[in-house]
Amino acid sequence: MATNTNEAFAILKDAVTFEFAEDAYLKEIAKLMTKEECDDGHVFAKEGEVSAKWFILDEGTVLRYKGPVDDNHILDKLEGRGRVTALFHSLKEEHVSYSTVVASGHVKLWSVDAKAYRDLLASHGGFALQLAAHLARLLRHESKVSRALAQARGSSPDDDKGDSKTLRVLCYDTTEWVRSGFGPALMEFNKGLENLQIVMEYTEDRLNARSAAYATGYDAVCTFVNDTADSDVIRMLSMLGVKMIAQRAAGFDRIDTKAALTFGLTVARVPAYSPYAVAEHAMSLLMTLNRKITRASSRVHMSNFTLDSGLMGMDIHGKTVGVMGTGKIGGILCNIIKGFGANLICFDVFENDEVKQIGGKYVTKDELYEQSDVIFLMMPLLPSTHHTLNMDTLPKLKQGVLLVNTSRGGLVHTGALLEGLKTGRIGGVGMDVYENEADYFFQDWSAKQIEDPQLVSLLGNNNVIMTAHQAFFTKEAVDKIVSTTLENLRDYAKGMTGLEHPNSCLPKPKE
Ligand SMILES: NC(=O)c1ccc[n+]([C@@H]2O[C@H](COP(=O)([O-])OP(=O)(O)OC[C@H]3O[C@@H](n4cnc5c(N)ncnc54)[C@H](O)[C@@H]3O)[C@@H](O)[C@H]2O)c1
Repeated sequence: MATNTNEAFAILKDAVTFEFAEDAYLKEIAKLMTKEECDDGHVFAKEGEVSAKWFILDEGTVLRYKGPVDDNHILDKLEGRGRVTALFHSLKEEHVSYSTVVASGHVKLWSVDAKAYRDLLASHGGFALQLAAHLARLLRHESKVSRALAQARGSSPDDDKGDSKTLRVLCYDTTEWVRSGFGPALMEFNKGLENLQIVMEYTEDRLNARSAAYATGYDAVCTFVNDTADSDVIRMLSMLGVKMIAQRAAGFDRIDTKAALTFGLTVARVPAYSPYAVAEHAMSLLMTLNRKITRASSRVHMSNFTLDSGLMGMDIHGKTVGVMGTGKIGGILCNIIKGFGANLICFDVFENDEVKQIGGKYVTKDELYEQSDVIFLMMPLLPSTHHTLNMDTLPKLKQGVLLVNTSRGGLVHTGALLEGLKTGRIGGVGMDVYENEADYFFQDWSAKQIEDPQLVSLLGNNNVIMTAHQAFFTKEAVDKIVSTTLENLRDYAKGMTGLEHPNSCLPKPKE
């Protein structure tokens, strides 16, 4: 053999993919191999396109991406001599690549012309048979694994009978109200379905990179506000065959919807449950804070019926109240504020005509900071709204302003909030959400030491009223969350997938 062919044969002997093949056949493949060297960023195969070659890595690293490379959704990383990529889909002429394969740094590899390889298989029946036997063994192994997992779950992949389909859903971050809300409602809902049954199972764990594996064998996962479905989790879910995320909330800031689109997952949410519930809770937080209700009530319960200046509040009537974000919840809150006879000023990237009709005046952000005695944060958490309240905005606020946040903790830089409370620039805060709530909220920490010093500082401050993400929590809202989530699952099972789903929150492609 020529030097090159010797080298190619040696690398084939190191490739696990070819451990099944006899040397005689490897020598034939070696004759088809061409040595290549490529720089960082070189694209070997493009997702969705037919690739004319397959590759064996000699030195360096190759990354496989789903979706546009710039989006950085890395499927896996090939490193080390003898790793093979793009081989199996090149067995058939019209099969397209599942991912885009790109050099990460300088890469040395060998390429094999896909057609020449197919011709080799066609003319060497013995080799083709060895390859078929090898693939059958891999397939048997994979199917044994999935059957074992299905059995462990108490179900079988053959659950779907005739025309009837079963949609298996794993519900993460399950607390008592979730189980008792979904349990009876699902039984009733299933009675009204034709050729479909939804089976929901529950775990108390939150969805994250570790717990994603629990979803093996499920068609969909049902998530809540503190579950994490970032790009890695989405990739894992898609590899496990999960095709849908049913978010049982309106906000979906912990779901990487761009990654979901790339990996072909449908994501649906509950766009509105009870905006009244959240708006009313926001006002309750303000009034509890303003009229010192917690302190007053505990004093009275201890038979201390005195009044002192520590209990003094202010009239909201006549004060200037600023609302940032005048969407569904913010709009309802504006009505409530007007009912108090306050002067209403607002900031939003889109003005709400109904808010203007009731006398709300849109101002700039800085004007709102400067004039407001009370500020409500009512906008979603987006890159543009992250840390809206920060060290730079602090000096712009009116001295002693009361702040209410029922939207998302990330709207407020907690260090700036603590600084504002310390200096008195912020007179008090009513918060239903906290920047780092995911580690604590919806769990009982009463017998444990809280390790987050910022949370400890907030909880120890008399001018802080905190509830643990319960603004939505009314009977009406929970009923709506349950019914819309079940409808979302049914619609997905009936074929309304991706952007076609009525409650999709996937990003729409730019026109
Ligand atoms: N605490 C809870 O239990 C709870 C429950 C439901 C919703 N929420 C939170 O409340 C938020 C608001 O809900 P909604 O139903 O009113 O949403 P919505 O989409 O109807 O309204 C959001 C408003 O914010 C505005 N906005 C967007 N970017 C902005 C910016 N940079 N500055 C100012 N305004 C901006 C939008 O234009 C819109 O008018 C949700 O995103 C969610 O995070 C919390």
